[in-house]
Amino acid sequence: TLAIIIAGIMAYLVGSIPTAVWVGRRFYDIDVREYGSKNAGATNTFRVLGKKAGIFVLAVDILKGFVATHLATLLLDLDHIIAYDLIYYQIAFGILAVIGHIFPIYVNFKGGKGVATILGMVIALHPQVALLSILVFLLVLIATHYVSLGSIIAGFSFPTFLITIPVFRQNNPTLVIFSSILAFLLIITHRKNIKRLLAGSESKIYLFRRRKV
Ligand code: G3P
Repeated sequence: TLAIIIAGIMAYLVGSIPTAVWVGRRFYDIDVREYGSKNAGATNTFRVLGKKAGIFVLAVDILKGFVATHLATLLLDLDHIIAYDLIYYQIAFGILAVIGHIFPIYVNFKGGKGVATILGMVIALHPQVALLSILVFLLVLIATHYVSLGSIIAGFSFPTFLITIPVFRQNNPTLVIFSSILAFLLIITHRKNIKRLLAGSESKIYLFRRRKV
């Protein structure tokens, strides 16, 4: 039990690593939370500091969710957890990392929106469906140039694919339930983006060109 508590705290601390803030401060002398969408995430890093920094932040933020989720696998031996219960611990630790990402202890609890960290978590839990969701994200991004819209739609497409594609259907509904909850969490963290999308004032991201809108 002690091992579970320690691993849970570790998952939160791993998720808390404020990649966007640290990269901006260390290499550009800029806190990305003061520019663009003011979000401490990969998208806003891309927007404010450019492609290289954005991709780096994206990779680390994905890794945080992936590593936190796999902390459960390590625990299996330490705390004699039954393999059947593994998914519950994986999801719990993944969510703790996502909470850490959104409310990072190291930088006044002002973090990101959870997209990349959730992605790392679902890559760990179901790589095939995660990949399909990434494709959905890319399609929406290429079609509309809205990262936020792509993130939200991809978030909902993950549980939808799990339910509707026969080969991916699982006996245990846990992942469907929790990935749906995370999709709704994305709505909450993207509430300002949604307002801007409805008002037509959401900023666009061009993957291969920088253009003024
Ligand atoms: O990375 C989160 C993304 O969905 C939106 O980010 O900076 O455009 O609010 P941003």
